[in-house]
Amino acid sequence: MPQGIWAEVLIVGAAAVAGTVIFSQRVHLDAKPRAKGQAQTTPSGVRIIPYEELQKHTTRESCWIMVKDQIFDVTDFLDLHPGGAAVILKNAGQDATKIYESIHSAGFFETLLKPEQHLGVVDPATLPQVEAVQTEDEIRVEQARKNIPNINLMINLNDIEEEAHSVLSKIGWSYYRSTADTGSAFDSNIAAFSRYWFRPRVLRPVRDIDMSTTILGIPSTMPIFVSPAAMAKLGHPLGEINITRGAAACGIIQGISSNASCTVDEIADARQPGQPLIFQLYVNKDHKITEDTLRKIDKLGFKGIMLTVDAPVLGKRELDMKARGLPVIRGTNNSGAQGTALRAGVANSLGGYFDANLKWDDLAWIRSITSLPIVIKGVQCVEDVELALEYGCAGVLLSNHGGRQLDYAPASIDVLYELRQRRPDILDGKKLEVYCDGGFRRGTDVLKALCLGATAVGFGRPFLFANGAYGEEGVRKVIEILEEEIATSMRLLGVTKLSELKPEMVTRMA
Ligand code: HEM
Ligand SMILES: Cc1cc2nc3c(=O)[nH]c(=O)nc-3n(C[C@H](O)[C@H](O)[C@H](O)COP(=O)(O)O)c2cc1C
Repeated sequence: MPQGIWAEVLIVGAAAVAGTVIFSQRVHLDAKPRAKGQAQTTPSGVRIIPYEELQKHTTRESCWIMVKDQIFDVTDFLDLHPGGAAVILKNAGQDATKIYESIHSAGFFETLLKPEQHLGVVDPATLPQVEAVQTEDEIRVEQARKNIPNINLMINLNDIEEEAHSVLSKIGWSYYRSTADTGSAFDSNIAAFSRYWFRPRVLRPVRDIDMSTTILGIPSTMPIFVSPAAMAKLGHPLGEINITRGAAACGIIQGISSNASCTVDEIADARQPGQPLIFQLYVNKDHKITEDTLRKIDKLGFKGIMLTVDAPVLGKRELDMKARGLPVIRGTNNSGAQGTALRAGVANSLGGYFDANLKWDDLAWIRSITSLPIVIKGVQCVEDVELALEYGCAGVLLSNHGGRQLDYAPASIDVLYELRQRRPDILDGKKLEVYCDGGFRRGTDVLKALCLGATAVGFGRPFLFANGAYGEEGVRKVIEILEEEIATSMRLLGVTKLSELKPEMVTRMA
């Protein structure tokens, strides 16, 4: 093999969101001498571009970026970027590898850009000498990761959250932990559980426990699932894939966010045979993009759709905003209107593409594209459970988005309690499945919701924190801890299977 500089070159096949083939091959960059005036190319015809050329393209009219030696023209992608145009423009005309890879999968180039947007490879001889300097936060994280305690010392989910706080980057922690406005909805999610107390039964044989169940008809070893949450790569380079593997190892169902930091193809590839995944959908302002996405996830074998309806715009997540360093003035706010609102933070950049005019009747449009069962995620009152039933939904996820959307939106356990009081027929007749999430951290929290009639409970942050602190092992640890807590509490409650959990086993304190 000749000596020289080799680069991994991506030759992108067919285009766009619906997903494509990507071919990867190694080419010899200094193979061809350049004739005067002639563009230099690799033997396979890929253009070799001087770094100075890249540096000229830094505007909305012509925006190029470089990731891992590859140069892309992202001008037409700027307004489609879920993270907003501004952050790409900030990195335009430069090597964005480090910043890109810290939160994105390389696969997005394959699925989101057209072949002609891959312009070529950088000429390595023209690369500027840059000295890598660690930021203060990177130094802190590196040190904290060296000192992280053994995972076996983690006794409960709060212990894992504490470790995540010390090892995550400031931006990662702030995005995950952020809540809306005063944080009251978030606090109340946790506090609400102390209003519900058990009325246990005794002298019942409880040695053998079975906590298996079904969710949308899909078997699950336990009555819990992974609530879909964005940007798992902010915690760990493998991102959502760790959660997929952990969920497979323990036999629970994972919801995949529309804003996952791995592509759906990568997540689908990481599945064990037959492993069920549910896709969380944010409807795009451009309905054609949503239609392509739905067709794609159908084809990939996803088992259901969670349509998130509590986020026509994103809540004001202040910790996240502050972590980015204010003020950052964006050209548009996340409802798309022109303005000078301060919209800093990972969260605020993610919501720009949401369709704020989505309505119940749009369910018919979604159904015309996919026959997958639809769960409405983000229902916050009994009247909307009734509407979901009327519109033929397979389930509702009672949720205030982990206290990240409307502040003072009710805790899901309180909505469930009200549903139990007002419409026991919906819960007992299994007219549609009812799930809850938000603030669940203990096996007892799960059992309270199950007694009141929920089918299963979702966990959001606990999986992000565990993935950030301990990767896949952390994900498994969360599930193991919950399994143990649920089993112990079932025995202490006097039940051996989930069907024995009844509303009269829980009482609400004033
Ligand atoms: C080929 C496709 C993509 C390119 C070239 C791209 C590029 C970039 C770049 C250069 C940044 C700036 C990072 C920084 O300065 O911190 C960024 C940030 C970001 N991207 Fe992407 N991205 C792509 C796809 C996506 C996708 C599919 C998502 C949705 C999951 C996404 C979500 C984000 C978010 C949330 C941020 C952070 C925004 C902020 O800090 O305010 N990107 N992206
Ligand atoms: C960092 C983070 C990102 C999230 N991203 C999404 C998302 O992309 N789509 C969605 O429907 N819900 C999202 N959620 C909400 C979760 O699905 C879930 O409702 C919430 O996390 C439950 O509360 P918990 O974190 O207290 O368990 C996110 C939550 C967090 C914390």
